[in-house]
Amino acid sequence: MTDQSSNDASLDQLKARGEAAAAKGIRSLFAADADRFRHFSFRHDDLLLDVSKTALSADDLSALHAYAETVGVLERRDAMFSGARINTTENRAVLHVALRARPEDGFAVEGQAVGAEVEAVLAAMARFAGGVRDGSIRGATGERITDIVNIGIGGSDLGPVMAAIALSPYHDGPRAHFVSNIDGAHMADTLQGLDPATTLFIVASKTFTTIETMTNAQTARAWVSAKLGEAAVGAHFCAVSTALDKVGAFGIGEDRTFGFWDWVGGRYSVWSAIGLPLMIAIGPERFREFLAGARDMDRHFREAPAAQNLPLILGLVGWWHRVPQKHRTRAVIPYDQRLARLPAYLQQLDMESNGKHVGLDGRRVETATGPVVWGEPGTNGQHAFFQLLHQGTDIIPVEFIVGANAHETSPEMRVHQDLLLANCLAQSEALMKGRTLEEARQQLLDAGRPADEAERIAPHREFSGDRPSLTILYDKLTPFAFGRLVALYEHRVFVEAQLFGINAFDQWGVELGKELATGLLPVVRGEASTDGRDSSTAGLVSAIATLRT
Ligand code: F6P
Repeated sequence: MTDQSSNDASLDQLKARGEAAAAKGIRSLFAADADRFRHFSFRHDDLLLDVSKTALSADDLSALHAYAETVGVLERRDAMFSGARINTTENRAVLHVALRARPEDGFAVEGQAVGAEVEAVLAAMARFAGGVRDGSIRGATGERITDIVNIGIGGSDLGPVMAAIALSPYHDGPRAHFVSNIDGAHMADTLQGLDPATTLFIVASKTFTTIETMTNAQTARAWVSAKLGEAAVGAHFCAVSTALDKVGAFGIGEDRTFGFWDWVGGRYSVWSAIGLPLMIAIGPERFREFLAGARDMDRHFREAPAAQNLPLILGLVGWWHRVPQKHRTRAVIPYDQRLARLPAYLQQLDMESNGKHVGLDGRRVETATGPVVWGEPGTNGQHAFFQLLHQGTDIIPVEFIVGANAHETSPEMRVHQDLLLANCLAQSEALMKGRTLEEARQQLLDAGRPADEAERIAPHREFSGDRPSLTILYDKLTPFAFGRLVALYEHRVFVEAQLFGINAFDQWGVELGKELATGLLPVVRGEASTDGRDSSTAGLVSAIATLRT
């Protein structure tokens, strides 16, 4: 690591490079280097990261690597893996990597090994999940559990939901449902068609205080109790939390409570007991494969040389787009329907981690930080917002994620997969290559359109091209491949946080709204006045009051 002035100097150089690269474009880079794909794509086994369709030159990429060295990204990585308290505003270690490690990997927080505890919780989860799956753990009436409902929100929901959808070909346990929203519609719609006698609720909350989760859990409890009696409740609930005392107070037994630790951030917790619904759905062995995939990426991140290190390169490219190239958002488009909830998951992972404006030194940061992350699966997105990606006035870097192979292998399904792949490739090609005005005009003339019409329509059919995208390709979305992909994104967010100079592991920004909601509850109920509130809030409270029945 070097001093602040050399940081600033290389940052300024990178900003200048970003501007020059934007002016030069991407097509010219392909024209100048017939081997650009080989030079700008990186592999780890079947996982391939292609960043060739970005405006990066070889010198730019070297400058980015040099900047990562200057700011000490890899030293910070090592500090994280060593169990140091790098989450300085909460004085916590950041060791979610220990959740998918093997005990022999030797992870420790300040000298205290954590491997044995992690294994003990995994073993307890496996016993419980196995019992629910094989019917040795049943509901209060002796019936088998056919449905599980995870009640959690944020990190206690998004990871398990995403994973349950991603790994649906491996489901051979009870059906998994997820309730997160405080909106009663979520619970009401989920309970429709469920039988309390065959339903198990998992109350998942790191803190066991989150108002949405606690309210939903009470509603679920009342539903079970009303149908089966209060004595039945214990057989239909289990919990996942770091706050074991609060779980006990809710009335869930210790044998049905699965813990984790303060060194696991909520949005990094899918690998912990928070993954219980996934384990019940796909079984402990498949869950272990999911963990093994993440461990494989952890090892790659720690051991692969910088020039071949996928999370590092993905982070560098993300930061390049955000800071030197000034793009405010990025779209994540999985061409894999089962990754439908990946964009939502990444929104929390990325934006709750890197949506900060105060640096590690306590001062306001001088560059932009995390971009807005958004997306939808392809090909659906093509028929919704791709128009703007291709011809809008903002340039939005796109991240295409695609598996070469589907789980469905019949001849009819092969057609689907071929079309999916062709569409994915076509979109990144179109973004990069575009279509010139002259080409658009000629196409119209070739189609027999009169010259004046071709002249009028051609500008609307011109695509600027030179729009950046990257592609992440893997063989097939197995539990291993999926775990590896999620860990890749976790580490990418970490790399970007180091480049932004911020703490990725706190989330103070979500607190103010929570505090105000608590204060507004009696106001909404008409038990407290709106005195002292702004006129908009007061006006809305009064408008709600006139509408409420
Ligand atoms: O939204 C803020 C947050 O604290 C997230 O970081 C977290 O994932 C979510 O709330 C849920 O918290 P808990 O697991 O404690 O209920």
